[in-house]
Amino acid sequence: MAVPFVNEAAWLPTANARPVKVADGPKPNPSKNEVVIKVVYAPVNPSDWKMQDGPTHLTYPFIHGLEVAGKIVQLGSDVTQFKLNQRVIGHCDGLLTQKTTNMGFQLYSTCAEHLVSPVPDSVALLNAAVLPVGIDTAAAALYDHLKLPLPSLNPSPIAKKILIWGGSSSCGSSAIQLAVASGLEVVTTASSSNHELVKSLGATHVLDYKDLDVVDRLLSLLKPGDYIVDCIATKETQTTCGEILGRIGGGKLLVVNIPEGAFPENVEPSMVICLPVTPELGSHMWHKFIPEALAAGKYQAKPDPHLLAGGLESVQDGIDLLRKGVSAKKVVIEIAAE
Ligand SMILES: NC(=O)c1ccc[n+]([C@@H]2O[C@H](COP(=O)([O-])OP(=O)(O)OC[C@H]3O[C@@H](n4cnc5c(N)ncnc54)[C@H](OP(=O)(O)O)[C@@H]3O)[C@@H](O)[C@H]2O)c1
Repeated sequence: MAVPFVNEAAWLPTANARPVKVADGPKPNPSKNEVVIKVVYAPVNPSDWKMQDGPTHLTYPFIHGLEVAGKIVQLGSDVTQFKLNQRVIGHCDGLLTQKTTNMGFQLYSTCAEHLVSPVPDSVALLNAAVLPVGIDTAAAALYDHLKLPLPSLNPSPIAKKILIWGGSSSCGSSAIQLAVASGLEVVTTASSSNHELVKSLGATHVLDYKDLDVVDRLLSLLKPGDYIVDCIATKETQTTCGEILGRIGGGKLLVVNIPEGAFPENVEPSMVICLPVTPELGSHMWHKFIPEALAAGKYQAKPDPHLLAGGLESVQDGIDLLRKGVSAKKVVIEIAAE
């Protein structure tokens, strides 16, 4: 049964409209496997500014925002993993369903149960807010594409390395931690100011991607059969990662944007997409591994949030801030009081 929540949302009235406009929001009406979350924090992702600036597959008016943190206020009839008032984080899949109720920049967001995770008492909701999209992107790369062992608190070592290009990004921070939890040894790149951060996430080797000899130094660490995930995926980083993979024997290069680099013949670029996550993978990640690992202190909610107060009226400021770029931070809008 639909509950009469009074919803508001930050709307894009038409494609490329700016600023977003705060107005009445869509009425939540969860399907049997969805929950409604009263949003406290809504992080901003690069796709929020990319979709505001470029062409999209969406019908307008539309709402952006891909992830939320808050409290459960309504349960679909088949939901088994959650209860009302529980603190949760959720990955919003509205870019797939094309339903505005499934997006994040609103007071009440509706998420699929397998994309929602309980937040342990020991972890601040604000910090947990940064996780959903980064984790699902990394999980899609490691488990859908590379078929690595699912993450566990006590992984068995695999005698392979993985290069995570861009370890201080949101996607990279999760890719490092998940790769370690799958038994791999991690090599990563970041600015020198973020080397301690990525080591604290579990990277064994870290190089500054601005160093002129970074490719040669990475080649000295990697061997045929090792993996590469480009978590930045500009044309330049794709080309560099492709060159490295080509020189260690080639294989599948995972990139988090559309492949546009220049690739050697022995390299097959493949785009990672954070949705859809299957219910099986989502359940393992969001109902088991992530809450257990967070509670045990074996997974860090990184990067740190850069909080913008002001509710839905601050959404455009948050999008504009991220468009300029961040270093080891996630821009998070405080939508409502906790
Ligand atoms: N396909 C999907 O489903 C999907 C999902 C999510 C994100 N994405 C895409 O993934 C990319 C990353 O998103 P994000 O949210 O993780 O980014 P982000 O956290 O905003 O990225 C910021 C980080 O990027 C690092 N960086 C910038 N240029 C770099 C370079 N040339 N080499 C290495 N690191 C570099 C910076 O590192 P330093 O400060 O250390 O220099 C900074 O910490 C975006 O293009 C986004 O659109 C795709």
